[in-house]
Amino acid sequence: MSESRISLKTSEVIGGAAAGVAAMQAGSRVHAEGGDLIKIGLVGCGGRGRGALINALSNTATQNLKVTAIADAFEQPVRATEKLCRSEKPDFFSVPEEQMYWGIEAGKDLIEKSNVDVVLLCEPPGIRTRNLLLAAKAGKHIFAEKPVATDPVGVRIALEAAEIAEQKGKILIVGHHLRYEDKHIEPIKMLHDGAIGDLVCMRIYFNDAGVWTRPKQAGETEMQHQLKNWYYFNWLSGDHICEQHVHDIDVMNWMAKDQHPIRANGMGGRQVRISPNHGEIYDHHTVEFIFDDEVRGLSYCRHIPNCWNSFSEHAIGTKGTLDIEGHGRSVLKINGKEPQVWRRTYDGHQKEMNVLFDAIVNGKKLNAGKQGAIASMTAILGRLATYSGVEISWDAAFKSTLDLFPKKLTWDADIAPKPGTDGLYPCAIPGAINLADWGM
Ligand SMILES: NC(=O)c1ccc[n+]([C@@H]2O[C@H](COP(=O)([O-])OP(=O)(O)OC[C@H]3O[C@@H](n4cnc5c(N)ncnc54)[C@H](O)[C@@H]3O)[C@@H](O)[C@H]2O)c1
Repeated sequence: MSESRISLKTSEVIGGAAAGVAAMQAGSRVHAEGGDLIKIGLVGCGGRGRGALINALSNTATQNLKVTAIADAFEQPVRATEKLCRSEKPDFFSVPEEQMYWGIEAGKDLIEKSNVDVVLLCEPPGIRTRNLLLAAKAGKHIFAEKPVATDPVGVRIALEAAEIAEQKGKILIVGHHLRYEDKHIEPIKMLHDGAIGDLVCMRIYFNDAGVWTRPKQAGETEMQHQLKNWYYFNWLSGDHICEQHVHDIDVMNWMAKDQHPIRANGMGGRQVRISPNHGEIYDHHTVEFIFDDEVRGLSYCRHIPNCWNSFSEHAIGTKGTLDIEGHGRSVLKINGKEPQVWRRTYDGHQKEMNVLFDAIVNGKKLNAGKQGAIASMTAILGRLATYSGVEISWDAAFKSTLDLFPKKLTWDADIAPKPGTDGLYPCAIPGAINLADWGM
């Protein structure tokens, strides 16, 4: 039994009945429809931030809301968000110039200086963790994109934030949108109810071509460069196993009845991501996650063009199988019977906002913070396993003092990782890591 086992209360589990109403308890009814205007603040005005904001403003629970504050490290994304809202949602945009924040701590400014009720945290993950804690302490309702942390110290901060939000009776949901899609919810409930027998093994995939690079520009400080090219630095993204594959990792934990693995081993490396623009992260990881009763979760993620791609999750039981495509269909096969098929009929990104605002206006209690932190911790465990090449236990990883966040968050801060004279950043070499350097 894992010493630092984290268990979830019903109100902290999204997926199944919780995505509807059953797992929500009555909370304070502070923003009932027709009552006070709900003021929304967005932190991180990139692609997902703008999408999440439009989803929030399009929610099906209430139209009694406006965006009143927006924040980003840079002015340009703030202006792009303003332009988008003025053209697509003009009736819901009411952001005075003094509530448009840019700067390295723009999220902190928005949370502490604007009087928004709800914050949408869509900045790079490593920045999000501390904003999540600030927002929880400030008593905001929160939508936090995934992952909520990139290192074990950050996971513990996220767990603290979840606890504070719970105590303050505020809603906290995390951007694991698959938790809100019926084509995941219904077959996973059947799996939990024993439809395919005892769970033996799971496989999960996030294989695709990879994402953008944002090369360093003349005159940029290292901090400016890393915040723009954030995907390629572990303190900001946690590597793609954490930043993207965390969706499937969360589904793996969900299929295992919201348990987390107790140990992991893996291998990974970089074959095509070898340039100054690719920072320090790998382009492929394979991890064997081991749960109680020796149930296996086999995880594969790759960011290499022109290869076999898949965004999917699979379970093998003693009496059948479940195969779910992230954006496609789900097939549950009970041995000897006709397969049952679900198709994706709607997008969980919109549904999660419908659920968030329904909970706010109807005074429901909903907190997915712990669930999100466990998914992030599981992804971090996988990264520590592939980077080190040795088996790592959940307990050792969860308790580790590994803290990648810079000591100072200023534009001219001296931060790690540092590029060599050839512009390349060092990356982890399996077999050559001293676990004591990770506080383990
Ligand atoms: N749930 C999903 O399906 C999904 C999809 C895409 C992205 N995401 C998540 O959303 C987050 C953002 O991704 P994206 O695709 O929008 O990236 P992006 O690069 O388009 O946007 C990130 C934004 O954050 C800003 N930023 C950087 N440092 C900041 C700081 N200190 N304070 C405030 N803002 C800062 C950047 O300037 C940029 O505008 C990531 O965590 C990503 O994993 C989730």
